Amino acid sequence: MTGPLSGRAESAAPLRARQPGSRILGTGHYLPSNVVTNRDLEKVMDTSDEWISSRTGITQRHIAAPDEASSDMATKAAQRALEAAGIAATDLDLIIVGTISPDMPMPSTAMFVQRNLGARKDCPGFDLSAACAGFIYGLSIADAYVRSGIYKHVLVVGVELLSRIVNWEDRTSCVLFGDGAGAVVLGPAKNDGRGVLSTHIYADGSMIESLCIPGGGSRTPFSAEVLAKKQHLVHMVGTEVFKYAVKGLSASVLTALEANNMAPGDIDWLIPHQANVRILDGVQHRTGIPKERIFINIADTANTSSASVPIALDQAVRAGKIQPGQALVFCALGGGIAWGSALVRW
Ligand code: COA
Repeated sequence: MTGPLSGRAESAAPLRARQPGSRILGTGHYLPSNVVTNRDLEKVMDTSDEWISSRTGITQRHIAAPDEASSDMATKAAQRALEAAGIAATDLDLIIVGTISPDMPMPSTAMFVQRNLGARKDCPGFDLSAACAGFIYGLSIADAYVRSGIYKHVLVVGVELLSRIVNWEDRTSCVLFGDGAGAVVLGPAKNDGRGVLSTHIYADGSMIESLCIPGGGSRTPFSAEVLAKKQHLVHMVGTEVFKYAVKGLSASVLTALEANNMAPGDIDWLIPHQANVRILDGVQHRTGIPKERIFINIADTANTSSASVPIALDQAVRAGKIQPGQALVFCALGGGIAWGSALVRW
């Protein structure tokens, strides 16, 4: 089998050969303090802690305060990443925000982040819509800009306020998601073998209906009917996404390994998108990366879409689990279906 689900690096050439490369200078994350447990959900809908935890591995999720917007969470994660990187906001050359829950359809959440951070008023920024793969897509773009020498310091944020866009009357989907933000600052690598070694991104538009927000855009503009049918909220066919996720995530990890001539045993940490522990069991099985090397925080955070990988990365970094020289693989998959991976020598 060939193609993006095959795990063979045929359709996307590895990017590592180009110089100068990029590296992650600092990471940060933010999770709202308000925690909603499975037991809390039991009180307001027909579900159970047993069902949610056994099917997904989730025991709680963080939910933003009523006066919090995506850019507020993104700003906090970004400030922590800038501090860790030792970079001033005014040193940023580009701001990329992966999100499907922006503050407004226009302008971009990145503009709110620019203003909140006190970045340069001419610092470009944009939002990137690749759902749960938003951070990997953003990292791929940021890496290309830094590698090419066009920009020196790029902020990549993944942020989601999913609690405002899930259908709380659909127990099959609403229990899966949470709010949060994660960020990294990318800068030039030092030619010491450390940095972003490869990125691979993919999308399959034939799967649009399996995970989408069908109403409220130009195709089906906002109306009383859209509101009544809740078409402005996340719609998901969970079983279809589940099967695709196991294949897509595994293939993208194997592609990253192949592109860098590495074996599963060469990987110190897999930092995957946190959608479901059973999906990660499948990824472990297909890639051969041992479970103890897969960083899993889904019990605490649930699925935070584009924020998922950078939150997990920052938690692992701050917990001292990630050490210089280690090999990390990031992978994520979500609506589109869009997915991808990145291999980083820390
Ligand atoms: N609480 C209790 N029961 C629930 C429930 C809930 N929150 N949600 C669904 N159920 C019920 C269903 O109604 C169904 O009942 P039935 O057998 O009487 O019809 C039963 O549980 C099984 O539902 P099913 O959809 O087959 O469960 P599943 O084992 O496939 O798991 C998901 C469902 C959503 C957890 C799983 O498909 C999944 O994780 N998919 C990926 C979703 C995802 O992460 N997407 C984000 C982008 S990556």
